[in-house]
Amino acid sequence: MRSIILAVLFLPVLFFWEGEKAMADDLVAWGKHIAEAGNGKPGNTACMECHRLTGGGMPSIGGPRIAGQTMEYISREIREVQQGKRYGPVMAGVVQNLSKRDIQAVATYYSQLSPPKVSDIHTPSPKLVSLGKQIAHRGLWKKNIPACIQCHGQNGYGVPPLFPYIAGQNRTYLLQQLLSYAFLKRKDDPQGLMRGIAKRLSTEERKAVAEYFSSLSPPR
Ligand code: HEC
Ligand code: HEC
Repeated sequence: MRSIILAVLFLPVLFFWEGEKAMADDLVAWGKHIAEAGNGKPGNTACMECHRLTGGGMPSIGGPRIAGQTMEYISREIREVQQGKRYGPVMAGVVQNLSKRDIQAVATYYSQLSPPKVSDIHTPSPKLVSLGKQIAHRGLWKKNIPACIQCHGQNGYGVPPLFPYIAGQNRTYLLQQLLSYAFLKRKDDPQGLMRGIAKRLSTEERKAVAEYFSSLSPPR
């Protein structure tokens, strides 16, 4: 008798749980579809053309690695490009027609992946890597620049949900973003933190931190 009562009590919970799981599976499947083929609306090119299906990115065209960034960060960046707050000349047209659900789906899909680093076209310069390492771990106090790892986490692995990992990201992309912040094209960073930092770095120092972080392995 007791087991019947228990079953009656818990069956709805079980169905609810199964239902939630099926919905989550659907979301990831739809996200993968967008990554592979786009959502079918005008302008929406398949993400994999520039980020690969695995999310490893394409160093040769500066397409960033997006696999393993958090769902929150990926969604946020897409929304900021849609709203024009984040400078994204290549991405703007592509993401214009993504709905809220599309964004959630494709962000969930890529956040769950962890491919190996895609090899960079560029061989790192030991001199720049060593300067970059110093800035990353100790900052440049005379110029009021904090250590990058204070916000981007130990080894540049990121601090979820909103501080992105930058370790293992390709050099071209890192440098481009630092330039975008420095020259005030990318304006979606909270309180202008990255804009201030990027502006205070010299040309050589920006190159150095990009070299250093791109020489590391990505988080997972
Ligand atoms: C035609 C190439 C291209 C396509 C297609 C494309 N992207 Fe991008 N994406 C880029 C480039 C290049 C950047 C770097 C910023 C810029 O220049 O716009 C970028 C930046 C991003 C970023 C920011 C990453 C970060 O670390 O801040 C995210 C997230 C992203 N893309 C997701 C997507 C998703 C999801 C799709 C598919 C719906 C997609 N992209 C389709 C080229 C592309
Ligand atoms: C006070 C915190 C803070 C510090 C210190 C900091 N960052 Fe950032 N950084 C952020 C945040 C937050 C973002 C994401 C902002 C956004 O969405 O635009 C970011 C974004 C970035 C990006 C773009 C990442 C992407 O995937 O598009 C790069 C590159 C970067 N930071 C490099 C650096 C470097 C190099 C240093 C050290 C010289 C540094 N950051 C120090 C907070 C910080």
